[in-house]
Amino acid sequence: MEDNLINKENEKAILVGLDLGAVGDDFERSLEELALLADTAGADVVDRVVQNRNSPDKTYYIGKGKVEELAASIKMRDADLVIFNDELSPSQIRNLDRMIEAKVIDRTALILDIFARRALSKEGKHQVELAQLHYLLPRLIGLGNQLSRLGGGIGTRGPGETQLEVDRRVIRKRISDLKKEILLLRKHRSLHRQRRKRNQCHVISLVGYTNAGKSTLLNALTGADLYTEDKLFATLDPTVRRGSLNGGQVALFTDTVGFIEKLPKQLVTAFQATLEEIAAADILLHVVDISHKDHLRQIRVVREHLSKIDPDYYMREILVFNKVDRVEEGADTLYLAREFPSSVFISALENKGLEELKEQIITFIREQRSAIHIYLPYSEGKLLSQLQEQGDIASIEYKPDYLEIKAAVNADLARKFDNYIKP
Ligand code: GTP
Repeated sequence: MEDNLINKENEKAILVGLDLGAVGDDFERSLEELALLADTAGADVVDRVVQNRNSPDKTYYIGKGKVEELAASIKMRDADLVIFNDELSPSQIRNLDRMIEAKVIDRTALILDIFARRALSKEGKHQVELAQLHYLLPRLIGLGNQLSRLGGGIGTRGPGETQLEVDRRVIRKRISDLKKEILLLRKHRSLHRQRRKRNQCHVISLVGYTNAGKSTLLNALTGADLYTEDKLFATLDPTVRRGSLNGGQVALFTDTVGFIEKLPKQLVTAFQATLEEIAAADILLHVVDISHKDHLRQIRVVREHLSKIDPDYYMREILVFNKVDRVEEGADTLYLAREFPSSVFISALENKGLEELKEQIITFIREQRSAIHIYLPYSEGKLLSQLQEQGDIASIEYKPDYLEIKAAVNADLARKFDNYIKP
């Protein structure tokens, strides 16, 4: 049995939003994003019901009159589900469920559902299930007979419907089992990371707003065939690929989950794996869709997320304006270039600007490294080849008994040459 939120393709959905009169066009944008999320989940948006209010109604989120209007629209359009633009309280879901004849879903459940469909790795799946259970737990209280209905209607690919009929104790047990398993899987990941560090590879993490083009760029940089799609959150699991920078240096590139405004809090904590990749990376390529009209705002949202992971994230951040093939060069691009001096402009799809990007990465790496000046005996062939692979050799002179080398290396590699430092 299909048990996720949008059960068949093209289920008809009505979006419901509250315009609380916030500054700017925040509301329009977030409703637009909700439409995109619904589309990503496979629904057809057939209507939008909007209400201007100062605050959400405690009982129904929207006013009672508006609920009646919504019920009429559902009948008229034969809609299957209603998607609310905010997280509803358990009682709001229950009350709405009684008033209207369609599945009631909120923004959080929708995002969780999309994540549940797209998580690929075992760890990713576990984490989404954990997030879903955390979302579900408070919503079990007092739901009684509504429970199975609710279960059918809220992203349940992880837990499965039968699970939703059992009591909170069982769910708590599942939560604790999942946490243990995730902890184990994470230990594996951290071992992998340590190995990468030992191998002295630079780790470059691609971050950015969802749909910015991270996976496309990862493919372009590494020749990997990753799953890319013009839908939100096509990527859910951090993926690691080898690639080479100009000059043959090997680097590891990792793709990460796309950020979004109002990311359900359950997911922010659940996606520790992705966050850890970011924390462990030497460089963060912050990919921005330059053709999106809200790109400046998206940069802010991503940076807010990043600063929670690492307050000094900007030391490692290179802004990469992607999709330049979709915009005219003009005042906007000039402004961005001036505002963000170390940014790079590329088209990942058309392979444009990638060399410049690699140059910029190398410059960043070099800046973080220290300079060494060494006398290396000819017998140290292994060390020399390590230096050639992982360091930037500025000059090399062949003397009768040794090589005199000036190079930029990172601290770990620098230590290996301690014995050969020029006196
Ligand atoms: P999430 O997984 O949602 O975080 O997305 P992402 O950032 O990994 O984006 P992805 O690489 O999946 O690309 C999203 C869409 O943008 C796809 O349809 C890509 O083909 C398209 N795209 C990516 N880069 C470019 C580009 O340089 N130019 C154009 N025109 N389209 C691009």
